[in-house]
Amino acid sequence: MATFPEFIAQNEERDGVRFSWNVWPSSRLEATRMVVPVASLFTPLKERPDLPPIQYEPVLCSRVTCRAVLNPLCQVDYRAKLWACNFCYQRNQFPPTYAGISDVNQPAELLPQFSTIEYVVQRGPLMPLVFLYVVDTCMEDEDLQALKESLQMSLSLLPPTALVGLITFGRMIQVHELGCEGISKSYVFRGTKDLNAKQLQEMLGLTKPTAAQAGRGPQAPQAPLSNRFLQPVQKIDMNLTDLLGELQRDPWPVTQGKRPLRSLGSAMSIAVGLLEVRPGQKYNLPHCRPGLKYLDMYKKPFLHFQHYEALASRASTNGHIIDIYACALDQTGLLEMKCCSNHTGGYMVMADSFTTSLFKQTFQRVFTKDVSGAFKMAFAGTLEIKTSREIKISGAIGPCVSLNAKGPCVSENEIGTGGTSQWKICGLDHNTTLAVYFEVVNQHNAPIPQGGRGAVQYVTQYQHSSGQKRIRVTTTARNWADAGTQIQTIAASFDQEASAILMARLAVYRAETEEGPDVLRWLDRQLIRLCQKFGDYHKDDPNSFRFSETFSLYPQFMFHLRRSPFLQVFNNSPDESSYYRHQFMRQDLTQSLIMIQPILYAYSFNGPPEPVLLDSSSILPDRILLMDTFFQILIYHGETVSQWRKAGYQELPEYENFRHLLQAPVDDAQEILHSRFPMPRYIDTEHGGSQARFLLSKVNPSQTHNNMYAWGQESGAPILTDDVSLQVFMDHLKKLAVSSAA
Ligand SMILES: *[C@@H]1O[C@H](CO)[C@@H](O)[C@H](O)[C@H]1NC(C)=O
Ligand SMILES: *[C@@H]1O[C@H](CO)[C@@H](O)[C@H](O)[C@H]1NC(C)=O
Ligand SMILES: *[C@@H]1O[C@H](CO)[C@@H](O)[C@H](O)[C@H]1NC(C)=O
Ligand SMILES: [Zn+2]
Repeated sequence: MATFPEFIAQNEERDGVRFSWNVWPSSRLEATRMVVPVASLFTPLKERPDLPPIQYEPVLCSRVTCRAVLNPLCQVDYRAKLWACNFCYQRNQFPPTYAGISDVNQPAELLPQFSTIEYVVQRGPLMPLVFLYVVDTCMEDEDLQALKESLQMSLSLLPPTALVGLITFGRMIQVHELGCEGISKSYVFRGTKDLNAKQLQEMLGLTKPTAAQAGRGPQAPQAPLSNRFLQPVQKIDMNLTDLLGELQRDPWPVTQGKRPLRSLGSAMSIAVGLLEVRPGQKYNLPHCRPGLKYLDMYKKPFLHFQHYEALASRASTNGHIIDIYACALDQTGLLEMKCCSNHTGGYMVMADSFTTSLFKQTFQRVFTKDVSGAFKMAFAGTLEIKTSREIKISGAIGPCVSLNAKGPCVSENEIGTGGTSQWKICGLDHNTTLAVYFEVVNQHNAPIPQGGRGAVQYVTQYQHSSGQKRIRVTTTARNWADAGTQIQTIAASFDQEASAILMARLAVYRAETEEGPDVLRWLDRQLIRLCQKFGDYHKDDPNSFRFSETFSLYPQFMFHLRRSPFLQVFNNSPDESSYYRHQFMRQDLTQSLIMIQPILYAYSFNGPPEPVLLDSSSILPDRILLMDTFFQILIYHGETVSQWRKAGYQELPEYENFRHLLQAPVDDAQEILHSRFPMPRYIDTEHGGSQARFLLSKVNPSQTHNNMYAWGQESGAPILTDDVSLQVFMDHLKKLAVSSAA
């Protein structure tokens, strides 16, 4: 039998799922005592080049309230051609096309290696993707030039049939007509006036298709979505390239010291309105990726929050995605706008300027294609989760919105976006990851009989970038165990990495509405309770505390999480905090772990590069460090190395090995810079350099004086004080965990 770590790795590889626990406590009470809830990190479209999609429709359970998909965990009676649903126990007839099945001739979806399988359910005429660019023109010439070039470049990366549109805005908003012969024409709107969708459509002369047209089914040929404002790239790319080339800075004079008047909010609402024209998006999901840059909207912040919430909800109802590229040194208003990306699964990218490679490379990477020539982005996703009777769904945290699908699988105790078993994820890629929280149903006096397994099925429907509609189905199950007698087995099944991320998402979710210190206190309480439940110790003897290997890294993750920009906001602007949190709430486990606990590598003459502790003791004069925080790639030259570099030893032929030493981390950094999305910020610094602070703020301060003042505890409440070393943190944690008072 595989060990738990092997089992966990295998499941992640095959199904894109990591559970906090891999053996589940068999009653609700026991589950609450586990502290970390039964939950999963799920990556719906995890890259699976080895998984060829199959070209038929999934077979569904006939019970109307169930509709689970036939899967390898179902019992099959080949003679009678029946299968029993493993979620509701309904016995179902196989469809006539399965007449030939037998135990030696099984369809793919019954084979254990296809616990994750993908169906192509709609081929035929492909609907074009739609890209609408919404471009701010209030910026320096140099910035505008760089932005124009990136936008022009992107046209060459779009499929020729994709529809594109352009809205530009400064003080006024221009909706550009792309079909007009020869001359360029645009409709101008005042930024101060908000139009509703109907007014807008009337002004632009766009009418909704008649009811008869709209009523056509998904298979019927669609009237072209294009209109004067949205045209196929292949037809107008030359003209649009010219049009972009001619864009000028906003002509309205800017008073010294005042920001230009801009109209982002209205421009976005026009963009959403323009794409809203067509009904029946269920079958016809255009893809909107307004690339925009923002501005200052702080005068009436509350109104702006409401405005963007409303826009986000309209866009997500229509299945549209809003990407935001905010590239300016000043505040751009991401805080107010974040819901637009978050609720639509859109990207959010933040950089200092459009001239940076951070923006340019990242924007180009949005259009990356896989080996088959398809975009890595997918559209109009929905995720539906089915559970066996012993568990229910509490909710999900990630870039999704609720579809309000009630049903027997839905728990009344909501966590995150709850009260539903279905969510909409308008835009998703191979890394998009949701945290899904469950609840064990059975009461303590009626626990689940031993030997049973709890099952969860994830059904993800989406539009592939080829236009095909696809359904990916992942079915997983875990054993139940009685926590009274088998606590060791449950403890051994703990996945500390997944649990750290699942708890971190909960904490960040809370931090959106609660005060920072309250969130930290909550996180600390959970950690202390986990230590009390699963640690080995004698009461009131901190030195006796031991954590088994399965839990040993968990407190350290919590230590770094507490210090991370996701929970500490005082060093960051509100926009930066929004940005960091946005990335954290959608990335997969590996990337999320790097965000919480950055990786540090050391390069020296003493051997090959090696990972070292994220600790101030790792900073040595004769070392170069490479730190990856996900958002930054930092190279730090120790004091001696830095002196040699300044003296130019690397130029001398006899110090060739020094030149190689300097080059090695640069090469490794390049590799990360080339693959990461969004592209990280690259920092080259040295001992005493001003940017060294980025390194110093991440490492465990094991050698600072802070340690002496550690625990100022007036109230005696179990609070772990900020900015102490890991050692002090651990010592205090042990004290609290073993204390009979706590
Ligand atoms: C593109 O521009 C050329 C030259 O200005 C013009 O003749 C042509 O009609 C334009 N095409 C479209 C589709 O607007
Ligand atoms: C984004 O929205 C989802 C669902 O509405 C929520 O779970 C998540 O916490 C939000 N994330 C951020 C960073 O606001
Ligand atoms: C997904 O993750 C991989 C690394 O695991 C990274 O190379 C890639 O850029 C990521 N893509 C996106 C769109 O986040
Ligand atoms: Zn069923």
